[in-house]
Amino acid sequence: MPTADPIPLLKLLGDPTRLRILALLDREELSVGELARALGLAQSRVSNHLRLLRDAGLLAERHAGASTFLRRNGVALEGDPGPGLASRLWGALGEELAALPEHAADLVRLEGVLADRRSKAGEFFDRVAEEWDKLGIAFDTGQARHRAAAHLLPADFVLADLGCGTGYFSQPLVGHCSRLVCIDLSARMLDEAKKRLDPVRRSTDIEYKVGGLDALPLADGELDGVVAGMVLHHLPELDAPLTEMRRVLRPGGTAVVVELAPHGEAWMRGELGDRALGLAPADVCAAFERVGFEDVALDPVDDRYCPKGPDGAVELSLYAVRGRVPRASLSARNGATN
Ligand SMILES: C[S@@+](CC[C@H](N)C(=O)[O-])C[C@H]1O[C@@H](n2cnc3c(N)ncnc32)[C@H](O)[C@@H]1O
Repeated sequence: MPTADPIPLLKLLGDPTRLRILALLDREELSVGELARALGLAQSRVSNHLRLLRDAGLLAERHAGASTFLRRNGVALEGDPGPGLASRLWGALGEELAALPEHAADLVRLEGVLADRRSKAGEFFDRVAEEWDKLGIAFDTGQARHRAAAHLLPADFVLADLGCGTGYFSQPLVGHCSRLVCIDLSARMLDEAKKRLDPVRRSTDIEYKVGGLDALPLADGELDGVVAGMVLHHLPELDAPLTEMRRVLRPGGTAVVVELAPHGEAWMRGELGDRALGLAPADVCAAFERVGFEDVALDPVDDRYCPKGPDGAVELSLYAVRGRVPRASLSARNGATN
């Protein structure tokens, strides 16, 4: 193994300022200006030492815009006397560096430099925050945020959208469950749902099934969650569909119903096929409890349904009711009620 003269390296490291520089650059990547401030020295005094350290290959540089950032180069260097002598010497110095008279003061100043750097970044974003979304910083498909969400949410969930129509309530579920079953009486509505959902299906298996809420084409306990958005007011009564929802959910599974509050828009019967002009939240909550859901809760929804009527668009209030299937076994419960 070729060896080289170690004396130049030892001389280089024998200088206290150069050791302080290396100790700081071992902790943080710094610009020349930041380094000079952390050392409490004029930049001109630091530059000469940096040139020597750079020539000896002890510094790594990164250029960003007009600034050059420096770090201690810990890699064994070409021309290094012996394999990585500089690195080995550095390793051997270890805690001895802390005994350098100026080192503690350097660290305090370094903290100040880093705090300034953070607050500069904060100031920059404070300045642009209001304009940020208008700066044209756009994403292409939006997949990145869906990927992030998919990693965070329990993706092994199996969900169903009942009376899914064109898939409006399904859309935010896609990508956040392993399987989604879209069910509707109308095959043509399911075709429209497919057009909407298949292009964004990501990791979710989506099934489209023709079926009624009073006899769901699903096995007992097959689902972790169901949503029924804007569909119960099309049905003659609440107990049969809610009993079916409870049957197809596993113990602990959740049902969510989104409904229209009672309203007086009678034209919606003829134009939109509505049977009831909205449903009273208390009636929906009572039906949830009657069929055996627990933790039944009414959630206000900050949204309105805005269909176009004969006299222009109307704004109708919405609400959500949710309930959970008891964790005690379904068969025990069925045995008690049958
Ligand atoms: C007002 S749309 C709501 C669609 C979708 N959930 C939404 O909010 O955009 C009502 C849907 O429920 C379906 N539907 C009506 N009665 C049903 C029933 N008994 N079983 C299953 N689907 C039904 C209709 O075919 C229609 O697609």
